[in-house]
Amino acid sequence: MRTDFDPQAMEPFAFYQLLTAVVVPRPIAWVSTLSSAGTANLAPHSFFTVACVDPPIVQFTSVGRKDTLVNVEATREFVVSFASEPMFEQINDTATDFPHGVDEFEAVGVEREPSLRVKPPRVAGAPVALECRLHSTLCLGNSTVVFGEVLHAAVDEAVLVDGHPEIGLLRPLSRLGRNEWGSTATDGVREIARIRYQDWEQR
Ligand SMILES: Cc1cc2nc3c(=O)[nH]c(=O)nc-3n(C[C@H](O)[C@H](O)[C@H](O)COP(=O)(O)O)c2cc1C
Repeated sequence: MRTDFDPQAMEPFAFYQLLTAVVVPRPIAWVSTLSSAGTANLAPHSFFTVACVDPPIVQFTSVGRKDTLVNVEATREFVVSFASEPMFEQINDTATDFPHGVDEFEAVGVEREPSLRVKPPRVAGAPVALECRLHSTLCLGNSTVVFGEVLHAAVDEAVLVDGHPEIGLLRPLSRLGRNEWGSTATDGVREIARIRYQDWEQR
């Protein structure tokens, strides 16, 4: 037996709560931007993924018109800092609905560092920063998908093993349903190679 949920018959928020509980775990983009006045902004976005391989494009979604979206539209640049477990509480603090014009780096006490290719700062303590130039936006109902071409990736040497980012050192946080967050304990990581069709019959 299954329970049926009909989005047409439900309040949008109730269906959103269902959707975000079953599309899990979601990686978290910790997005920094600059306003047209030059004030920095920092906020987590878990509607986040890779959108294109070549050119490298990432996407995140603003539900409603938040400061991050307003800034990206105005200044056309953003940085995605990696949401790693040691910064758990700071990441959550930057989701507070501070008024427009408040610099979350300052308000929350997050150390910044300059980016190489774009003007918005990176989070100094984050193991990875993806510096992005706005590619395009797509309006869908009450939300806007933001696509950004990754111009530069800056990775802390401490998380690289043989030049590749190591999951146990990155320690990604993820967003689950409600106010739940996930962590990636190394013993929760499984590895399996994809099977080529030409090898399928010999299995
Ligand atoms: C883990 C986490 C993930 C979030 N993901 C999103 C998201 O994908 N899209 C969104 O619009 N808001 C998301 N939020 C809420 C925003 O971070 C929050 O509304 C924030 O205040 C927006 O800041 P801004 O107005 O400075 O852009 C998330 C919050 C948390 C804690």
